[in-house]
Amino acid sequence: MNTPYYLYREEVIERQIQQVHAFFSGSVYRCYFAVKSNANPVLLRYLHERGFGMDVISQGEWYAAHLAGVKGAEMIWNGNVKKEEEMSFFLDDKVGLVNIDSFREIEQWGRIHQTHHTTPSLFIRINPSIDAGTHPYISTGNKAHKFGIGTERLDEALDLAKSYSLRIDGLHAHIGSQITDPEILAKAYQEIILLSEAYGFPAVNLGGGWGIPYMDGNSLDLNTLRQLTLPYLTKLPVLCELGRYIVAQAGSYVVKVEDVRFIDQQHVMVITDGGMHHFIRPALYQAKHTFTVTQPSQAGFYQLSIMGRLCESGDILASGIDMVPEIGSLLYIHQAGAYGFSMASRYNGFPLPGEYLQKKSGETVCIRQPEEYNWSGTGGEHYGD
Ligand SMILES: Cc1ncc(COP(=O)(O)O)c(C=O)c1O
Repeated sequence: MNTPYYLYREEVIERQIQQVHAFFSGSVYRCYFAVKSNANPVLLRYLHERGFGMDVISQGEWYAAHLAGVKGAEMIWNGNVKKEEEMSFFLDDKVGLVNIDSFREIEQWGRIHQTHHTTPSLFIRINPSIDAGTHPYISTGNKAHKFGIGTERLDEALDLAKSYSLRIDGLHAHIGSQITDPEILAKAYQEIILLSEAYGFPAVNLGGGWGIPYMDGNSLDLNTLRQLTLPYLTKLPVLCELGRYIVAQAGSYVVKVEDVRFIDQQHVMVITDGGMHHFIRPALYQAKHTFTVTQPSQAGFYQLSIMGRLCESGDILASGIDMVPEIGSLLYIHQAGAYGFSMASRYNGFPLPGEYLQKKSGETVCIRQPEEYNWSGTGGEHYGD
């Protein structure tokens, strides 16, 4: 296995799945996996075999789920913008359910209904105006955000759908990602479930957003969330779209130490062969991931900055106090299973990394070959020979 690469642990994914089922036990529920968090078809197949449908954003994510053997009827199509050519693609049973994001989208589906006389099952994404208390870039349920239709305009939205004889089957809300305060999620669940009940919808989609412990150790207390929400979760069938909670903790981004630079008495820069092109969360969201140093070379603990190899000072992967690793040793950046590889790019012309799965048996298998240099990363192939 050549570094850099992603390594996922089956045992952890299995543990997380069990916790999801335990949370919803007693209610009628269906879980969908948010493919945006990790689109590896082998993992998608694994999750599908354990009862998950798929929540996809694009034809690309749809294809990954399709490769994993997931039928259209078991997929949800989400998205802020849905282009008409994409809508044509997603007709013909390519997707079972769509979350409508806007008034314009109601009109688009209305026109499709008038010509095709059929559409996937349609839910309306509402924006309940609840602050998710998370990083602003992954907070989506506030009035200032571009997602969904304000609850106060729901009647207007339903009237618009009616004017096209469009049937709306339910409501959806996803107020953000990495939410660790159970009170906030409980408030959102309660609001959307009561609203769905009041309007007589047969089911409700609660979105995703369950937070996991990164370096700060904060995590969502599912027992508290369950206590707060069980009376509501049993009122009508619920759908959820979890991503991070299922796979984040199962994954590590594994890099090799290429250089160790002593900045001063306390501070050491560890330069690796990875970078923010593969793992952008620390640079983009200032996310703090835990890491494991293998083969320490220096006794004593130092303030380590774990850097990538790209031409950016923001190319940081992790930081914290630890022993100084030896050049050539491996470094594991943890909680990288969600929004890791799926956000990777070929910036600076580097190929995408491989992905590996460590099975419960201890065997490790390759689930995506590392890309090779084929010059396609630069876009140069489009300009002559
Ligand atoms: C509509 C929707 N559903 C589900 C998710 C998954 O969120 P998470 O990975 O936090 O569970 C997202 C993430 O952005 C989303 O936008």
